[in-house]
Amino acid sequence: MYINIYFSGIFGYVNYLVERTRGEIVNTMLDGMQRLEYRGYDSAGIAIDGDKPNEVLLFKEVGKVAALRKLYENSDTDNKKVFNTHVGIAHTRWATHGQPSPINAHPHRSDPTNEFVVVHNGIITNYREIRALLEGKHFVFETETDTECIAKLAKYVYDLNKHRDLDFTELTKLVLMELQGAYGLLMKSVHYPNEVIATRKGSPLLIGVKTEKKLKVDFVDVEFPEFAEITVDSPMETSNGLLALPQSNGLSNGSLLVPMGDNDLRRSQSRAFVSDDGIPMQIEFFLASDPSAVVEHTKKVLYLMDDDIAHIYDGELHIHRIRREDGQPTIRSIQTLEMELNEIMKGNFDHFMQKEIFEQPDSIINTMRGRVDFEKKTVTLGGLSSYLQTIRRCRRIIMVACGTSYHSCMATRAIFEELSEIPITVELASDFLDRRSPVFRDDTCVFVSQSGETADTMLALQYCIERGALTVGIVNSVGSSISRQTNCGVHINAGPEIGVASTKAYTSQYVALVMMALSLSDDRISKQARRHSIIDGLSKISKQVEEVLALNDRIRAMAETDLINQKSLLLLGRGYQHATALEGALKIKEISYMHSEGVLAGELKHGVLALVDENLPIIVLATHDSLFPKVMSAVEQVIARSGNPILLCNKGENALSKLHKTYRTLEVPATVDCLQGLLNVIPLQLMSYWLAVKKGFDVDFPRNLAKAVTVE
Ligand code: UD1
Ligand code: BG6
Repeated sequence: MYINIYFSGIFGYVNYLVERTRGEIVNTMLDGMQRLEYRGYDSAGIAIDGDKPNEVLLFKEVGKVAALRKLYENSDTDNKKVFNTHVGIAHTRWATHGQPSPINAHPHRSDPTNEFVVVHNGIITNYREIRALLEGKHFVFETETDTECIAKLAKYVYDLNKHRDLDFTELTKLVLMELQGAYGLLMKSVHYPNEVIATRKGSPLLIGVKTEKKLKVDFVDVEFPEFAEITVDSPMETSNGLLALPQSNGLSNGSLLVPMGDNDLRRSQSRAFVSDDGIPMQIEFFLASDPSAVVEHTKKVLYLMDDDIAHIYDGELHIHRIRREDGQPTIRSIQTLEMELNEIMKGNFDHFMQKEIFEQPDSIINTMRGRVDFEKKTVTLGGLSSYLQTIRRCRRIIMVACGTSYHSCMATRAIFEELSEIPITVELASDFLDRRSPVFRDDTCVFVSQSGETADTMLALQYCIERGALTVGIVNSVGSSISRQTNCGVHINAGPEIGVASTKAYTSQYVALVMMALSLSDDRISKQARRHSIIDGLSKISKQVEEVLALNDRIRAMAETDLINQKSLLLLGRGYQHATALEGALKIKEISYMHSEGVLAGELKHGVLALVDENLPIIVLATHDSLFPKVMSAVEQVIARSGNPILLCNKGENALSKLHKTYRTLEVPATVDCLQGLLNVIPLQLMSYWLAVKKGFDVDFPRNLAKAVTVE
């Protein structure tokens, strides 16, 4: 079900003949990791050299890089020790195998003395087989991760081949032959001091190069093996002690590479790094999964290709391949990055908001990751589990939020009421405080906030804490004030949201709130069928969001031609779609500065109808649910006043067929009624985006608005 997105981040720093204190080295590493923070992660770790020869130190911590920094600072490590040459590797982890914990955080090690340490992005699919094999060889695994098997395998292969005097590249080749899956990988070892291996398959990795002197050439030659390939039966342990697991990676089953003769360790010189005067060149290397971590140090970068093995030692970067392939390029160029940090972080998108809109198929999955079991049809919210009974017994649930977060409460209120059968009120934080609304000890107050820092929401939280209510947070930013000060809660795990106009946080809040409603009702037999249909709906929602995003070009055209010169835009919806109308109107106001109003369709005839004429653009949220006939009656009322609505409807909606000819439609896939708003809001996000782009406004930082409003 989960798609392959490698949120984890890799960073490595090598200084060669460039004096750096340990403190400086660690700072460079932590800063590099912080640059990767926007990708989202749950724990972080570094490996650096110790004071004694052959000593590698590991620092690993759950939470942000700041927590790791604290852990390091609280250790008694000598920050002033100077290293002329040093290799450090670092990682920010997004848990896939095993929970976030210091032990599961990278770097992973071969043994308690840290002979081999690795950081890894991706998934080793045959790690169970490797683990079983190594456990049979008395290796003791200490984590639940797939990555640990790489470090242990490296030690095993090293120990078996001690007599061969393998260099780090040769050793790596033997290790990689056994790995299946995807990896971006850095490896460091006490046996190869001041050397590092960087290799990738299906997961990005690049190397930044920083020198005082100009590089002689702007490419690195690829070095092909001086190895003979022999075939052995597998699985087995061969006479020379090498492993050969079935379907070794990149090689035919049972093939094995063996050095052609003992001590055949010729090392070619890397042309780029040879200085004219023969004096070794001072150089720094920055290895990373993402250029954003490198660009502040150097713009000279080399992107590794799949199956490249980069070996850095003695100030040189060598790139090796396991075998010679016809037609493959024989050099890797060192490019100059033209992009600024901001642009790199935006990837192929022009704005963060656009990126975040398009991230929604993934961010929604991340909200559900590890929490929804689509087969067993269960929802487990770790942060709420011990509070569910208390919440089920509460007198009412008060949801409190501002802006977009308030709309996510509106969007899910009905399903909360239906599933939990607890009275729900939804409050704007400022108004809730202005009214000094009564709150009691047996109330549950839910605070929804992307940033977790919004002052109005925070003050409302304080107010409820003072009155003894149970407080629950639905928050994106782990470690934020609301996350810390609530009794319990759910992190929506949407990843950092940078655009001021909230998009992916909205859909993730929505999903998190639906999950909370599902959790609250999982003891009710009478709700089971409904719950199952919602969970089925959730299992398909990410794909459906992708389908809606495919409307991008149509929406852009609609925004640029039909709507761009309008002064105002009305959005009509009722039931579940009232919140969508409000949220769509907020998006349009926020970034395109066009007046826009979200109107409850049932209220149309009580006032707003007076605005309707042939000119006022109106979007009607007319997807199919039990209120559809009533929405259609609002459409009729609009048409009767010569209005010209755009209908956002389900694909192939028969009841609309006669209107199709006359009126413009945007067709979205159908899902369960209470999830439909997740799909319907996306065309409106895109519409606001294209309106703002066409008008030349600053999409990510609209005038007068801030991402987190920390003043009352
Ligand atoms: C936790 C881990 C997650 C891991 C999962 C595996 C964290 C932050 N989360 O997620 O990385 O994959 O275990 O089981 O380490 N909380 C509040 N207020 C809020 C939000 C959360 O008090 O506004 C509390 C929760 O009650 C919980 C903790 O913070 O005690 C973590 O919440 P959440 O990340 O949602 O929990 P899990 O999904 O269990
Ligand atoms: C600000 C933002 O007004 O705060 C909005 O500009 C956001 O986008 C609102 O919805 C609430 O923020 P939060 O962080 O509490 O969800």
